[in-house]
Amino acid sequence: MNKTMHRDFLTTGDWTRDELEQLIESALRFKSGDERGMPLVGRSFALVFFNPSLRTRASMQVGIFELGGNAVVLEPGGTSWTLEHREGVVMDGDKTEHVAEFVRVLGRYCVGIGVRAFAALRNWEEERSDPILKAFARYSEVPVINLESAMHHPCQAMADMMTVREKLGAGRKRVLMTWAWHPKPLPMAVPNSFALAAAQMGHELTIAHPRGYELDDELVREINERAFDAGGSVRVTDDVDEAFDGAEVVYAKSWGGRMFYGSPEEDIEEREQYRAKWIVDQEKMKRTSNALFMHCLPVRRNVIVTDSVIDSHASVVIDGAENRLHVQKAIMARLVNGE
Ligand code: CP
Repeated sequence: MNKTMHRDFLTTGDWTRDELEQLIESALRFKSGDERGMPLVGRSFALVFFNPSLRTRASMQVGIFELGGNAVVLEPGGTSWTLEHREGVVMDGDKTEHVAEFVRVLGRYCVGIGVRAFAALRNWEEERSDPILKAFARYSEVPVINLESAMHHPCQAMADMMTVREKLGAGRKRVLMTWAWHPKPLPMAVPNSFALAAAQMGHELTIAHPRGYELDDELVREINERAFDAGGSVRVTDDVDEAFDGAEVVYAKSWGGRMFYGSPEEDIEEREQYRAKWIVDQEKMKRTSNALFMHCLPVRRNVIVTDSVIDSHASVVIDGAENRLHVQKAIMARLVNGE
């Protein structure tokens, strides 16, 4: 295969802290209007969505337009053919086209490809290897941006780090990432990427979740190593009240237990005991050091977070969503400029 030299944006872990800081600086310049570069003039960028989206899809389409380009949006199985990603399979089932051809054809039209392919929450060992995203990256001759895979949502994490920086200034902060009850198990990409990026930025990170909802062991090792390298720290607790003490940032997210992949009904039964306790409310926010409240959205009100918190001055969820636009413009500009 004729692979050209390019970089992808699959996880923040592939980028150094300095590079991530530079991307945030660039995003802040795009936001202020100081950066007006239009590296996509006369060029197209593909966006491939296996799953629904509001923020990611709209912010990428707007970002491509603002960089002077044209967005080609495709939905495999909807507006484009059903896609196979496995190697060596006999394609006599319901899949019409292989990623091998799909991405190389797109690469002849477009200077980059963004792809969203969530975890199906069926098979932990398989999904933790991010097979669809990896197939895109393996075959693509142009840069690939992860728009949320089974394991990572790096654009979200970058917008989150930009929002912390914008609201609280540069430097180490006391950041709490807390699990919250939700009626059904959700993918782990957002908490994985938030924790990894917070560690890379050197924050004092507390991860709170009930027992049975641990993040991936290998990823936790990486989070600890990155925190050590950056002069930060990582603490994991199942005490949801104490976890809020002194926090400057509260980031809420629900996720499914990896032991329950393939049996969601068991997860739903297990998590029921946490419903009343694992919600972000005013009582918990009072334990913080006037913390910001953050969530990637979409969020279920009065399930993950009470109205009184999400509607309070502490809440920066809308500013955080706006920052998706600016940070993705910075990422696309960096990738297509190839600096
Ligand atoms: N936060 C986020 O990725 O939102 P969407 O799922 O709406 O794109």
